[in-house]
Amino acid sequence: MGLFSKKIISWYKDNKRDLPWRKTKDPYKIWISEIILQQTQVIQGLPYYNHFIKIFPNIRTLALADEEEVLKVWQGLGYYSRARNLHFASKQIYKIGRFPKKYEEIIELKGVGEYTAAAIASFAFKLPYAVVDGNVYRLLSRFYAINIPINTSKSKQIFTKLAQKLLSNNKPDIFNQAIMEFGSQICKAKKPKCKICPLRTDCKAYSSSKIELFPVKKLKVKEKKLYFDYFFFKKDKTTLIKKRMEKGLWQNLYEFPLIEFDKKTNNKEILQHQKFIFWTKGIEFNIESISEFEHKLSHRIIHARFWEVNCKNKLPEYSYIKINTKLITSYAVSRLTEKFLQSKIC
Ligand code: ADE
Repeated sequence: MGLFSKKIISWYKDNKRDLPWRKTKDPYKIWISEIILQQTQVIQGLPYYNHFIKIFPNIRTLALADEEEVLKVWQGLGYYSRARNLHFASKQIYKIGRFPKKYEEIIELKGVGEYTAAAIASFAFKLPYAVVDGNVYRLLSRFYAINIPINTSKSKQIFTKLAQKLLSNNKPDIFNQAIMEFGSQICKAKKPKCKICPLRTDCKAYSSSKIELFPVKKLKVKEKKLYFDYFFFKKDKTTLIKKRMEKGLWQNLYEFPLIEFDKKTNNKEILQHQKFIFWTKGIEFNIESISEFEHKLSHRIIHARFWEVNCKNKLPEYSYIKINTKLITSYAVSRLTEKFLQSKIC
């Protein structure tokens, strides 16, 4: 084992946080913890993990549960597609009869990417796959003073190769936990604790007093801001949607009647907009709710509002498709609209 691994592991043994998923080799529990921690800080994720494991202690209980029940337990964590993927994958595993033991099989599970597959393979089965999360990127970038931006596709391969080389082959489980913990507790993004860092004498960024220059990040082009107002008109369990035909964003996906703006507008301006007036001509309605969502795309950021409009006499008569509201989930919609619909279901 190299000096890097020795120092990291030795630090980990003395300083690790006492976390339930670190005391188990059960791949099911490790998998659940990693999916929760993909989107949530340890402190916030911990009670959700404990609750989830209490309700669904094993593959069988999760696989046999109703999706609604799973989503209910997930409620508050957000990103419901992760819960759906977990549920879907639990059924796959239940069918096979055992949790997959090989990396190549684990990564086939729905919702499991390279990072999560490496985490499960190493923590549960001691397989030598290096985990490369944000903590690992930052730590390696500083330790080796790597000039390659960490937020590019090119860097992934380079950092993974490096982490793989450093990985302790006889203790991949401990090494992986240790390097992530070290990154999050010592080699922190803000105010790293260099003074007490056992790696500082070999750390290139520290030795050259350039800690604050690493990790290098490619400057992102500022996203264009868009403001979308969607109208969820409702009458007798029916609503209106249409296929988005315009080239570009979300072409061929279905959406609610929409008014797009490139600047912020207030509610009054929306209600006085000619499209809205046209849609609601002769219609008695009341606004039940307005839900706001922020949706990031690669070059755009969409501030969306979904207006839930109860129509008393009829739905707007316009070139939209009238559908049973319940059937909306069978239409392909954008992730943004999906987020809104999920917030309504859950
Ligand atoms: N973040 C992601 N995985 C983690 C783990 N196993 N322990 C602590 N933090 C984590």
